[in-house]
Amino acid sequence: MTRQTILILDFGSQYTQLIARRVRENKVFSKIIPYNTPAKEIAEMAPKGLILSGGPASAVEKKSPYPDKGIFKLGIPILGICYGMQATAELLGGKVKHTKEREYGKTELFIDDNHDLFSHLPGNFTCWASHGDYVTKVPAGFIITAHTMNAPIAAMSNKKRKIYGVQFHPEVTHTEKGNQILSNFLFKICGCIGRWTMEGFIKESVESIRKTVGKRDKVVLGLSGGVDSSVTAILLHKAMGKNSRCIFIDNGLLRKDEPEQIKKVFRNTFHLNLDFVDRSKRFLERLKGVTDPEQKRKIIGDEFIKVFEEEAKKFKGAKYLAQGTLYPDVIESISPTGAPSRKIKSHHNVGGLPLHMKLKLIEPLRELFKDEVRQIGRELGLPDTIIYRQPFPGPGLAIRIIGEVTDERLRILREVDRRVIEEVRAAGLYEQIWQSFAILLPIKSVGIMGDERTYENVVSLRCVTSFDGMTADWVKLPYEVLEKISNRIINEVKGVNRVVYDISSKPPATIEWE
Ligand code: XMP
Repeated sequence: MTRQTILILDFGSQYTQLIARRVRENKVFSKIIPYNTPAKEIAEMAPKGLILSGGPASAVEKKSPYPDKGIFKLGIPILGICYGMQATAELLGGKVKHTKEREYGKTELFIDDNHDLFSHLPGNFTCWASHGDYVTKVPAGFIITAHTMNAPIAAMSNKKRKIYGVQFHPEVTHTEKGNQILSNFLFKICGCIGRWTMEGFIKESVESIRKTVGKRDKVVLGLSGGVDSSVTAILLHKAMGKNSRCIFIDNGLLRKDEPEQIKKVFRNTFHLNLDFVDRSKRFLERLKGVTDPEQKRKIIGDEFIKVFEEEAKKFKGAKYLAQGTLYPDVIESISPTGAPSRKIKSHHNVGGLPLHMKLKLIEPLRELFKDEVRQIGRELGLPDTIIYRQPFPGPGLAIRIIGEVTDERLRILREVDRRVIEEVRAAGLYEQIWQSFAILLPIKSVGIMGDERTYENVVSLRCVTSFDGMTADWVKLPYEVLEKISNRIINEVKGVNRVVYDISSKPPATIEWE
């Protein structure tokens, strides 16, 4: 059975991925493709519908990105959103006008025609607009289906050809009824059924892994304990049983009790074929005397690869390497200038394993968004502590200890970190925050405890919100939470007598300190 798919042509909108997620929330599979994908290729993919995303370009400029005009002749339903509507109008003989005044933010939408795309909607409601261009004349065969105070043509449709345009953003939650509009498009207009479920995905994925790897070949995977590699590990185990092996490397730079928890969950609960290797001595030995952040990263990365190779070799007959790559890392995205570019996550891939190992790569999650991976994690019975774990960098605590990494410093930071997490959790904030952690600084300061002067370490707290780690803002933690964390650290962790809070955003500061 082929998957019913909605293709989203990406014109560079900041909301493109959101559109894709909203479609999937309606249980319809969606895929993002470059805006200029030839109509012939699109027809071959046999989508149930097309959505043209918004974008930063102006539809009135000749060099702006346009879709292949052939897509309008395929007979496949099309919904153009914002720039997508303007490009549609422009290509089909309507008129678009560029103005300097942007309509931006919440605005009242008045429905002029409440059939198909706008059925089951009230006469007016709030929508989210963000555009500078307006359609001033709809193409022949189209009617105006909605307006706002500023835009007489806020939506248009050609029911016969099943081509629709909306000037606002139904994918954004500020648009009331946005989901009703999308679901009208998906179910009423495109005739989708809504079969994309994570339960279904698990079944499909297990079958597909079996088919790819075959009965005799074997798969290895580096398990980090994050949700992506954990879900991948369980899928592999379901598909391959003993023919899959997960390698967990304890590099000595993990948080308190983390290695033990991983062992417990994956060996005892899930019965994975888990190769648990403690190489902490080896990593710490190589980090002796090293203070340069880049060198730390390099040593840890190199050592990780070496250990992984040694361990993988022991698993005779391994031909495949599995990785928990997600959809946002593989989407071909276009830059705001319209030039196609590939989005690459730079230095963050300690999971990017040795190409010369000559293992073939399988990436069971490469079609999924993070929220879908979490859903799968829940279906598979992973504990919440793994499903909602905040990101943790490959080089671990080494890049949170400024200066040389020593056993004593690791001990201190682990104790501090545990208390930060406990208190952020207790305040009910853990899952809203991208990362909350502590950094051990290489300076000491004077303090007083009891009747004695102390000369001890300083730690900095770092709590940030972020969407994808690319930009971040510091969290305005309530004073009470800050106070509790600080008190606990200073009273309970030997070796720390001062706590400070990092209030830098990214950019210019990074999230990690090294
Ligand atoms: P920065 O510090 O660059 O971090 O603002 C952005 C996000 O990436 C994580 N990070 C890493 N993850 N290996 C990783 O796997 C690394 O070397 C690495 N450096 C940073 C960081 O925790 C944040 O979520």
